[in-house]
Amino acid sequence: MQVGIDQISFFSPNYYIDMVDLALARDQDPNKYLVGIGQSQQAVIPPTQDAVTMAANAAEPILTDLDRQQLDLIIFATESGVDHSKSAAAYLQRLLNIQPFARTIEIKQACYAGTYGLMQARDYVELNPTKKVLVVASDIARYGLRTGGEVTQGGGAVAMMVTANPRIMTLERDNQFMTKEVMDFWRPTYATEARVDGKFSNNVYQEFFVELWERYRKVTGKDINDFKAFVFHLPYTKMGLKGLRQILPEADADQQARLLAQFEASRLDNKKFGNLYTGSLYLSLLSLLRHSTDLVAGDRIGLFSYGSGAEGEFYSGIIQADYQQMLVPNQLDDLLAERIKLSIPEYEAMFQATLNGAADRQLDGAADPALYVLTGLQQEQRQYEKQ
Ligand code: CAA
Repeated sequence: MQVGIDQISFFSPNYYIDMVDLALARDQDPNKYLVGIGQSQQAVIPPTQDAVTMAANAAEPILTDLDRQQLDLIIFATESGVDHSKSAAAYLQRLLNIQPFARTIEIKQACYAGTYGLMQARDYVELNPTKKVLVVASDIARYGLRTGGEVTQGGGAVAMMVTANPRIMTLERDNQFMTKEVMDFWRPTYATEARVDGKFSNNVYQEFFVELWERYRKVTGKDINDFKAFVFHLPYTKMGLKGLRQILPEADADQQARLLAQFEASRLDNKKFGNLYTGSLYLSLLSLLRHSTDLVAGDRIGLFSYGSGAEGEFYSGIIQADYQQMLVPNQLDDLLAERIKLSIPEYEAMFQATLNGAADRQLDGAADPALYVLTGLQQEQRQYEKQ
């Protein structure tokens, strides 16, 4: 029996900034951001959106009434959760009106956790083939205004339905994974912005990819010619290119050109939304599915997941015949068309307006066109609404 991703859906809020505007405001050459970092736009998250609402907005389009009655496992991957105790998945169960006899759990290992969630879902469905599992990866990437990491911020959520006989991509049982405790990127519990050793984090990412790829080749006997495309965790899109370039010399010139063309397809959408932390790899997969012009059933895709701290995993999936029909129609094009561009001062004000602290506060949910919004804080309880 094959198990894997049957549906995939994405959400990111209604605002963005242009990387040329940000570069000029920060006295940088725009090409550093556009080419050197590989980002053209960046999602800006209003106070009325957080990891919970973004996940709910991403999951809504792929849930039927029957799913709401039958789902019994919701796995929520995030590193920008809203509570040190209560799982974001518990909020999701209520907001999405999923039946109460369900397990709901939040998992964390930096940007890697979405992949762990997916593999847990795969194992669960293998044991219970009639079940579906909802996996969401939702994050706000925040480094701070005028920091080195500012150009690599962003945010959004990816929701995936894992089932038997999936219609988008099967998950192969060839996973190679590793952990090494390092301080490349972290966020202390008292901080709302990440701490990072930027250059070191780039190096650890690449070391993990090369080591896992070597191990994968040894264990499975496969090589670079067995792959139609590689998709990467993309904290910024140049990072994936750096990874891919590490292994390209193993291919001949034609295969190199093909893999580079697929990589371009897999980073188009990430360039416009920025880092999603846990969701970045899966937005890149979605970008590949949307923009690649020659994917066919049976193509093998290599996926590299990386979470600082650090944990990595490399595995493959096989594209299914109906994958195009299973994408939510026009979803990303509509989101992109409707987004409002902010000036840099407007973005800075929105960045600082994020709900933070214990005081009661009312937010203007109606100003946010999203279905699920955060409307404020009352007695230290977050108020969520479907509108
Ligand atoms: N035209 C074209 N390219 C230019 C340029 C120009 N005018 N000016 C500079 N560049 C290039 C540089 O040559 C460099 O390219 P390479 O990396 O290929 O050498 C690139 O632009 C970036 O330049 P710098 O290294 O000088 O940039 P920086 O010092 O501002 O740091 C950064 C960049 C380290 C990514 C920083 O933005 C950062 O710390 N980001 C957050 C950390 C991060 O994303 N790490 C990734 C791995 S960790 C991870 O994956 C987990 C996660 O999600 C965080």
